[in-house]
Amino acid sequence: APRLPKVLQLTLAVIKPDAVAHPVMLEALHKIILGNNFVVVKRKDLAWRRQDSERFYAEHSGRFFYQRLVEFMSSGPMRAYVLAREDAIRHWRELMGPTKVFRARYTSPATIRARFGLTDTRNTTHGSDSVESAQREIRFFFPDFCAEEWLEKEEPSFR
Ligand code: TYD
Ligand code: MG
Repeated sequence: APRLPKVLQLTLAVIKPDAVAHPVMLEALHKIILGNNFVVVKRKDLAWRRQDSERFYAEHSGRFFYQRLVEFMSSGPMRAYVLAREDAIRHWRELMGPTKVFRARYTSPATIRARFGLTDTRNTTHGSDSVESAQREIRFFFPDFCAEEWLEKEEPSFR
């Protein structure tokens, strides 16, 4: 039987300020990315103003953690990646583990958030949770990058 074609997918991964502040952690996370067959398509170090943080997390405005979240995400430098691989969105979310660090430590101690996370807010990494959010978030961080064009050009060589 013919094998199903592999579908190359893009996701946005962000190393948050708590982890960027620690060079050893930053390096460990970079190695985890490379060690899990992700291709680094784009990479950028940046810092948010509070209003960038509010805009990115607008869907959470009104939640009890929102102020703490936007404050934290604009508290220092971050590193953003556009990553490509088969099933990239799910794979990166799986590597990160559950949002809440204490739950992550309890249920999936090998994940990034369990190993490196400090609190539910300072939880080391971000990852897009769907194709739609990946598109929006990649555009948010890399407005000059055209995902469709990249996939059209590169996808055939991954088959
Ligand atoms: P969410 O989108 O629910 O989680 P994820 O990052 O896994 O997609 O929440 C966005 C961020 O908000 C989360 O990474 C950290 C912060 N947050 C808290 O500080 N406390 C919470 O209880 C939740 C649910 C999220
Ligand atoms: Mg989310």
